[in-house]
Amino acid sequence: MDAIRERFSVRSYESGDIEEEKLERVLEAARLAPSARNLQEWRFVVVRDASAREALADAAKGQQFVSEAPAVIVACSVQSDYVMTCGLHAFAVDVSIAMAYMTLQAVEEGLGTCWIGAFHADRVKEVLGIPEEVTVVGMLPIGYPATEPPAKKRLDLAEIVMHERWRG
Ligand SMILES: Cc1cc2nc3c(=O)[nH]c(=O)nc-3n(C[C@H](O)[C@H](O)[C@H](O)COP(=O)(O)O)c2cc1C
Repeated sequence: MDAIRERFSVRSYESGDIEEEKLERVLEAARLAPSARNLQEWRFVVVRDASAREALADAAKGQQFVSEAPAVIVACSVQSDYVMTCGLHAFAVDVSIAMAYMTLQAVEEGLGTCWIGAFHADRVKEVLGIPEEVTVVGMLPIGYPATEPPAKKRLDLAEIVMHERWRG
């Protein structure tokens, strides 16, 4: 709960690099995440190269802080056609859970992240040489935060929780 409360979208980073063992624990959090049928269809490209990070920021509609972070984790799926009985594509759920785990482990390591969903997938693939059949789900710039967390804006529990039955 401490990590959940402390996590916020970090949009400004210190230039300092991340320790390799910290990054590895963040990736380990993703590895241990649950997935439908235990597919583990997630794959992660860790991008440290400065010019590649700049290209990723451009692909993310010019969100410059993406290149400011010393590393960007690009989360992908290599098996995107399995549809669960509920009608949802498993990959989007599975990779998102893994990404959420990484955001929380990052907090444990004193690091910050920001989920990037606004990007042109074809351009990200081009920059990183990701094959066409692979789906890019999201990107996580990761580094030491250079900003303080703002107050969280969230709906109250009473607005989002119903007991026993749906109430309109
Ligand atoms: C699926 C998803 C996509 C997002 N895409 C972006 C993005 O492209 N750029 C950005 O700055 N923030 C992005 N965010 C961050 C949200 O704006 C942020 O999580 C939300 O405003 C709540 O703020 P907090 O993360 O600081 O608690 C995204 C978050 C999610 C979950």
